[in-house]
Amino acid sequence: MEGFLDFNSRVFMAPMAGITDCPWRTILAECGGGNLISEMAAVNAIQRKNPKSYQIANVKNEPYPVVVQLVGNSPELFADAAQLVAELGAKSIDINMGCPVKKIVNNNSGSALMKDLSLASQIIKATVKATPLKVSVKFRKGWDMEHANAVDFAKMCEDSGASYITVHGRTRAQGYSGSADWDIIRDVKQAVKIPVIGNGDIDSPQKAEQMMQYSGVDGVMVGRAMLGNPWLLDRIDRHLKGLVAKPEPTVLQIRDMLLKHINLLINYYGERGGIAISRKFVGWYVRSLYEAKKFREQYTKLSTLPEVQQLINEYFVKVAV
Ligand SMILES: Cc1cc2nc3c(=O)[nH]c(=O)nc-3n(C[C@H](O)[C@H](O)[C@H](O)COP(=O)(O)O)c2cc1C
Repeated sequence: MEGFLDFNSRVFMAPMAGITDCPWRTILAECGGGNLISEMAAVNAIQRKNPKSYQIANVKNEPYPVVVQLVGNSPELFADAAQLVAELGAKSIDINMGCPVKKIVNNNSGSALMKDLSLASQIIKATVKATPLKVSVKFRKGWDMEHANAVDFAKMCEDSGASYITVHGRTRAQGYSGSADWDIIRDVKQAVKIPVIGNGDIDSPQKAEQMMQYSGVDGVMVGRAMLGNPWLLDRIDRHLKGLVAKPEPTVLQIRDMLLKHINLLINYYGERGGIAISRKFVGWYVRSLYEAKKFREQYTKLSTLPEVQQLINEYFVKVAV
């Protein structure tokens, strides 16, 4: 089983604000296996040339394909942003119509667009018209249980020109709680001809295979389970392709990956910013290791690279014995 459209893999990294940045993609690209995506970038902020949003959207210097995700509520601004991200190196454009965060939905963006199919359609059409790149849409089961309109929404995306869609099997009201509804993902798959990617609760190669068999989706998207486990997408990809899995990483390989990740964060955000951002990643890498809580508490107090390197080396020597 190979990929679909022009993707080499049926496994997709889930976009996650504050996480799927250039350093994380560099790590994932090295581990292999999945299609890579940006954090969401707001179309109005891109237009204002906001430096942070511009940095998110700028993937020109990355030596692997990156889907860039856009969020907003204005067809005109989406059209402008589509042209800009094409110049900034995007492989294709994903439109965020699933974000549940208050600040986003109060701005009539993200999952709020699931309540306004007419505006959602105008946004997709305007983006498709503005760029030769593929345009995909990521959305949820619906706004809430009473408005679980993912099937109608999927048909609207198809009719508006989306190349493929991703469905997260939770409503906006659920946020990230409860479990993802794979039935709605199956219903969406049956309702449209364009490729469908299923998303929600995949944390192993077996679970990915189960979702594909259960719902018939063309691909799977993995979010939270890859945190601290950048090897997961490759394991899933190999499993779906019937290839032999690489061995699980050793404790020392985890250490090396963590140190590499911190160095990448520092190169990208500077020493202070990079180390601040690294604190959450460190927690995920050591989650299941010896005295992780104590190590995390010590790590949080550090602010320079030599201190960080020393603590990590000392900690992993203890863990490895
Ligand atoms: C911290 C965090 C940030 C997220 N940011 C985004 C985002 O920017 N765009 C988006 O479409 N989805 C975002 N999501 C949703 C994920 O892409 C994914 O749909 C969700 O986590 C369910 O997949 P999972 O069960 O594999 O984690 C975010 C999720 C989390 C936990």
